[in-house]
Amino acid sequence: MNVLMLERELHTPVLTEEVIEGLVPRAGGSYIDCTLGAGGHAAAVLARILPGGRLLGIDADPEAIAAARERLSRFGDAVVLVNGNFAFLEDIARSNHFYPVDGILFDLGLSTMQLESRSRGFSFQKDAPLDMRFDPSQQLSADFIVNHAKGEELFDIIRSYGEEPAARKIARSIVAARPVTGTLDLAGVIERATGGVRGRIHPATRTFQALRIAVNAEIPNLQSALRQAISLLVSGGRLAVISYHSLEDRVVKIYLVREARGCLCPPEVLKCLCGHQPALRIVNRKVIRPRPEEVAANPRSRSARLRIAEKLAATGSPAGPGDPPVGQASGLSARSATVPVDPPVGQASLPVHSTPGGTSRLSSRSSVSACPPGNRRPSPIRRLS
Ligand SMILES: C[S@@+](CC[C@H](N)C(=O)[O-])C[C@H]1O[C@@H](n2cnc3c(N)ncnc32)[C@H](O)[C@@H]1O
Repeated sequence: MNVLMLERELHTPVLTEEVIEGLVPRAGGSYIDCTLGAGGHAAAVLARILPGGRLLGIDADPEAIAAARERLSRFGDAVVLVNGNFAFLEDIARSNHFYPVDGILFDLGLSTMQLESRSRGFSFQKDAPLDMRFDPSQQLSADFIVNHAKGEELFDIIRSYGEEPAARKIARSIVAARPVTGTLDLAGVIERATGGVRGRIHPATRTFQALRIAVNAEIPNLQSALRQAISLLVSGGRLAVISYHSLEDRVVKIYLVREARGCLCPPEVLKCLCGHQPALRIVNRKVIRPRPEEVAANPRSRSARLRIAEKLAATGSPAGPGDPPVGQASGLSARSATVPVDPPVGQASLPVHSTPGGTSRLSSRSSVSACPPGNRRPSPIRRLS
């Protein structure tokens, strides 16, 4: 990628117009950007909510917060930035007086800034340590999974989170090649296991995605955060979620569709027993994709999919503790694995494919004590401005 393109990607958020049309930000309103990144979407929202509006920006990565702080400085007190994990969304929002709010945005995955970093290990195109943590204070990194997980656990991660057909071969080759010392070493192992680069997609793409998802507990954290987001919205408030791969999008779609439904009882049940009430109205039945012009200007946008929903009036808590986790409905909860992958933030230690089915209210304090000894994180919430 040349410098100009990189500059453009670093500063151009994906599907901005569509996000704005979906969130309908209004002057004086309160909004949360759960994945602040470099602050591109946040700036677009802020430009529409002043005077009187406020935006809470959250990111697990302190470098993202630093970049966004600079970019958003012109908005002054209208912006509150928190270096934390959106798995703690309710706590972060309430403790910063962002409750209820008019709109919530998730632009999932990693930023160009992170992908292009020379040290973060997200890319197989530059040599770096096997890291892949959004939050550098988290203990679990890709290195631990690559070099210490059992072969079966590695296979499970690569197959489930990478949807990689050659997962078995790749997992075996990684185990045989240990110690795997960095991103290029890992990419080489995968290339040799799969017979080298053929076609458009590099053979390491899916495995790198799988490792990143596992390291950052992306699926369970997303499921938990979606539940919390709905509870924070005012009636008529909007939720916008951009995802970049089918696994993530499936989680979002299944959750939104489920919460837009009333009764969830199986068809053979004649009288509703679950009492489930619809909490949402799905605004765009068809997922929104970037236009060809956007993809041409910003190739990273090509896999983006946007879904928008609106909170309905007078609904109770959308997902109770007894509700099945969303991921199970989508077949995400494959066999359980026992890699000591960090539990989804704020959850007790869970197997890789488990999902938080119960509590959606996550206290930062309980999260720390829920981590296994030696895997404790500092307080996940650092208010910055
Ligand atoms: C695609 S980027 C967002 C880009 C942003 N919308 C912009 O306009 O610049 C995704 C960001 O979400 C952050 N992120 C991913 N998972 C997170 C989580 N569970 N909690 C908080 N931040 C997270 C990443 O660190 C990254 O900075």
